[in-house]
Amino acid sequence: MSKIKTKLIHLGLKKIDPVFGSVNPPIYLTTTYRFPDSQTGARRFKGDEEGMIYSRFTNPTLQVLEERLAALEEAEKAIVTASGMAAISMVLFHFLRPGDEIVAHRVLYGGTAYLLNEILPQFGIKTHLLNFKIPETISRVLSLRTKIIYLESPTNPMLEVIDIKKITKIAKANKILTVFDNTFAPLIQKPISQGVDIVVHSLTKYIGGHSDFIGGAIVGQKSLIDEIYRHSFIFFGPTLSPFTAFLALRGLATLEVRLKEISKTAQAIIDFLGNHPLVERVYYPGLGDPDQEEIAKKQMNSQIGFGGVISFEVKGGFSVARKIVDSVKLINLAVSLGAVESLIEHPASMTHSEMSEEALKQAGISPGLIRLSVGLEDVADLIGDLEQAFRAAHP
Ligand SMILES: Cc1ncc(COP(=O)(O)O)c(C=O)c1O
Repeated sequence: MSKIKTKLIHLGLKKIDPVFGSVNPPIYLTTTYRFPDSQTGARRFKGDEEGMIYSRFTNPTLQVLEERLAALEEAEKAIVTASGMAAISMVLFHFLRPGDEIVAHRVLYGGTAYLLNEILPQFGIKTHLLNFKIPETISRVLSLRTKIIYLESPTNPMLEVIDIKKITKIAKANKILTVFDNTFAPLIQKPISQGVDIVVHSLTKYIGGHSDFIGGAIVGQKSLIDEIYRHSFIFFGPTLSPFTAFLALRGLATLEVRLKEISKTAQAIIDFLGNHPLVERVYYPGLGDPDQEEIAKKQMNSQIGFGGVISFEVKGGFSVARKIVDSVKLINLAVSLGAVESLIEHPASMTHSEMSEEALKQAGISPGLIRLSVGLEDVADLIGDLEQAFRAAHP
């Protein structure tokens, strides 16, 4: 079994159910596990023997998901968490101590930005926000206190691509851990092969793919994941439910076909938006900038596509943008992304509303910016819906 598409359907299955041979991983609803004898129980607690102890620690259904996620990221190990934010906060709180510093790209998912800018400082941890599109600026703020370089690519909602290799080269030269949020492009890019130490995911998005659960994951080399697991995870307790793990496994099995189809539809919508008189600019990985295009092609798999998130700026600013998102009939006015149904939202007043006016301006998130997450509906229906919403909003 060598190809990832196959692994995402079969990996770990024979081990989890050798008795009945079910073709789907069973959902293990158990809080605890019988030890055959007291010595085995003691050995498992000491870490001298593998085996189940208690479902806050792990569970067979979760282990299948973890094995497949590790394969997805070409990594040694994964742990799943109850949300993407649980994965991100777990990693940060595990590695950071008062006095430490973190360097991050200035545009991040809103929840992560809040964690870095508002919560970590309460624990004496300082964040430097920089423009990672100019990696040279990173070296200027690094010191012995810098413990983590944190980034996402493509960024949310501007879809900028950051040169992952350039960032990890700087991190490695300075012995700093890199943490990468790969929620926007699972399977499309493999950050660990580009030198990233830890990948975090919101499984809620493309991996789940059906807007029916919240989940997260932390992926990386065994020693790092084991350390997070032993010293933080089992005590913080952000455990995913086995029911939810089953849904994530179901999502993983169709990840590649969904991403290919969604990316194809996204291209048609980009063409429509690019030709519409009400649209000022369209943002999509690599679009309209040769340097960005080169980075996107280098680190993202164009055979699959660049995903389904498109942002666009409309002429007329906030009032027109609001009218458009209020006028769609088929597309859902809702935050989140990566699902079978298309979602539209207004970043400045919704997902990124925690950012200051100055930070929004610096990040290019204007009042006229709309974010669209393309789903699996028929492309003609999606374009038809956007067309009628644009007509309704025409000033
Ligand atoms: C890039 C990115 N990272 C992390 C998260 C947080 O994930 P969750 O909602 O599963 O906690 C999100 C949610 O929108 C996201 O878009």
